[in-house]
Amino acid sequence: MPPRRTPSRRGSLADVPKNLLDQIKELERQFTVPGEKLKEITDHWVSELEKGLEKDDGPIPQNPSWVMAFPDGNETGTYLALDMGGTNLRVCEVTLVEEKGEFDIIQSKYRMPEELKTTDDQEELWNYIADCVQQFIAYHHAGETMEPLPMGFTFSYPATQNAIDHGVLQRWTKGFDIAGVEGTDVVIPFEAALKKRNLPVELTCIVNDTVGTMIATAYTDPTVRIGHIFGTGCNAAYIDNIGHIPKLKHMGLADDVPMAVNCEYGSFDNAHKVLPITPYDRIVDKESPRPGQQAMEKMTAGLYLGEIFRLVLCDLSAPNADLGLFKDQDLKHLQKQYSLDSSFLSMIEEDPFENLSETHELFKKQLSIDTTKPELELIRRLAELVGTRAARISHCGVAALCKMKGWTECHVGADGSVFTRYPHFKQRGAQALREIFGWTGRKDPIEVIPSEDGSGVGAALIAALTQKRTEEGIWAGINDRERFRKKPAVKIGEDGSIQS
Ligand code: GLC
Repeated sequence: MPPRRTPSRRGSLADVPKNLLDQIKELERQFTVPGEKLKEITDHWVSELEKGLEKDDGPIPQNPSWVMAFPDGNETGTYLALDMGGTNLRVCEVTLVEEKGEFDIIQSKYRMPEELKTTDDQEELWNYIADCVQQFIAYHHAGETMEPLPMGFTFSYPATQNAIDHGVLQRWTKGFDIAGVEGTDVVIPFEAALKKRNLPVELTCIVNDTVGTMIATAYTDPTVRIGHIFGTGCNAAYIDNIGHIPKLKHMGLADDVPMAVNCEYGSFDNAHKVLPITPYDRIVDKESPRPGQQAMEKMTAGLYLGEIFRLVLCDLSAPNADLGLFKDQDLKHLQKQYSLDSSFLSMIEEDPFENLSETHELFKKQLSIDTTKPELELIRRLAELVGTRAARISHCGVAALCKMKGWTECHVGADGSVFTRYPHFKQRGAQALREIFGWTGRKDPIEVIPSEDGSGVGAALIAALTQKRTEEGIWAGINDRERFRKKPAVKIGEDGSIQS
């Protein structure tokens, strides 16, 4: 890894003309979320979380995941984990070894073709994924006789789970829009595609990435209570108990039975009661495939940060804004929707030079815009504002979960491109928690820490925990017992072909 650069830049607005300075102040007004506002957002978040536990169509879905135990570090066995991310599809074979909390992993990544995300024919999606699993097996197991492997499928979209091996897609998020899937159980067509290929795998659980992240972190850290993704999307899962989930009362399970809940709180405040929405957020929402949904996610997640930033610059450089921003420059690249992603903002925020020469280069290279020094100052401030707002608002979710559960000390396992790669994100989030809870000590009692690969190791651990549950004869939250019956081994030819 390259050495981390500490940004040394102090920044000076001395030579920024008055009209741009006023504009920067206006942006600060729109994008700053003061401590008091964070508290108000958190309190409303607690009430929406509670409502989601009461009924199925609450403002935040609060989906029970049927993950009903934490790992203790002694899980063993070999499992497949399949992660259908936004950009890549990853197949992992995870072996949980005898040494407590350790594992071996082999994995292959496949590019998720862009056109699959909006195809009219969902079969194309399931066939593509099954083909990737087939390639993985052909590559890693040619010539072997293989016992079918239990597989955890990380499907990171809101799904109603009546059981761990069942998941009805509530709605697509993160720009996906594949016809005919919403409202149906994704296990059925996917399993059919696997069966058609006679693959030696048995899908035993559907896992949200947040739940996987929590479980993967819990494998080595018993103080974890929450799993969080700050990535293309923004969402969390936490561990609750049945007694606190009125909508599960009818199941007749004991109150103290644990249940991991996938909050799906990207949809927090769709009614826009407390979130400080700007006109730019409204445009992002209006032009997305699902307007009116995922209000919080659209202000905080990696998929949208670059777009919010771009929309502000488009607005300020329009002739009627009368600011002279990017005067006489060709703005056609800037005007292209979603042409900037959050890594563009990261690069701006990482520019260590007083004269922002790296940002100047970036604008030239990626957008063919030759920026002036005052313009660069506005650009830098805008990136800081968009990035800081995202960190502060999303951490209100962490605060809300802890407040609701009365947790005063715990770890939150976190993953996702924004968390791992966006500069200062962690510090800004920690600062937000300090302001919400009024901590002044040297060590924060609630800490958001990097997690182990939740969609790989987490999904494998959940497959292991589910299998263990069935071996103990506990079938609650399992739809089809047949999946857990031992199946005959399958011979894989030297050329990778599956022989029955
Ligand atoms: C979106 C999805 C959610 C996922 C999150 C992070 O919010 O709806 O299921 O956990 O993105 O990937």
